[in-house]
Amino acid sequence: MSVKIGIVYFSQTDLTHALALKIKQGIETLPETSTLLHRIQGKEIVEGRFATLSLLDQLANVDAIVFGSPTYMGGPAAQFKAFADATSELWCNQLWAGKVAAGFTCGSALNGDQGKTLDYFSTLANQHGMIWLGLDSAAGYDARKINRLGCQAGVTASEYEGNNVHPVDSDTAYYLGTRVAKVVAQFCANKGN
Ligand SMILES: Cc1cc2nc3c(=O)[nH]c(=O)nc-3n(C[C@H](O)[C@H](O)[C@H](O)COP(=O)(O)O)c2cc1C
Repeated sequence: MSVKIGIVYFSQTDLTHALALKIKQGIETLPETSTLLHRIQGKEIVEGRFATLSLLDQLANVDAIVFGSPTYMGGPAAQFKAFADATSELWCNQLWAGKVAAGFTCGSALNGDQGKTLDYFSTLANQHGMIWLGLDSAAGYDARKINRLGCQAGVTASEYEGNNVHPVDSDTAYYLGTRVAKVVAQFCANKGN
C-alpha cells in the first residue's frame, strides 16, 4: 500500500529546512512511502498572496501534510501564513478533511513561544477537518531521549551553538516522520486504499 506525505515549510536560515529533511528521512523509513517536499520561497508571495496554486493541486493527492516554519514573533512566519491563507479556497469544501496533519518549528530561544506556532498549525489543521498528530514522548521518561524541550504538540527546536539544529531536536524530527508515516499507513489500510 503506497502512502504519500507532504511537507510544506518556510525556512530563511536553513534550520527549519534541516528539520524538514529529517522528517522526510523518518517518513521514508516506511516502505512504499513517498514525500512531497515544498520549501516556500519568498518569490512565491506576490502582492502578499501565495501564488503557487499548483502546490494546492499536488497536496490534494497526499494522505498527510506536515507544516513547518521558524517561530517569528510568537507565531509562524508571514511566508507560511501566506500559504495557509491560500488554502482557504479548499476550506469551503473541506477538501483536506480526514488527512493527517503534524508540525515542526524552530526558534532562537529555548522557550521562544515555539508552542504557539504549533498551536497555529493545529488550528489550521482543525479548520480543514484534518486529524492532528503530535508526539507520544514523555520528556524525561522517554528511553529514546527525544523531545528535549518537552512539547508534545509536535517538534519544537531551538538554535544550538550558532546556526545548528540541536542533535536531539533533529532526532525528534526524524521520529515524528516515522510516526506520521506509520499512523497514515494504518489509516489508509483501514480505509482500504
Ligand atoms: C522576524 C523574526 C522574529 C523572530 N521571532 C522569534 C520568536 O518569537 N521566538 C524565537 O525563539 N525566535 C524567534 N526568531 C528567531 C528564529 O525563529 C530562528 O532564528 C530560527 O531558527 C530561524 O529558522 P530558519 O533557520 O529555518 O529560518 C525570530 C527571527 C526573526 C527574523
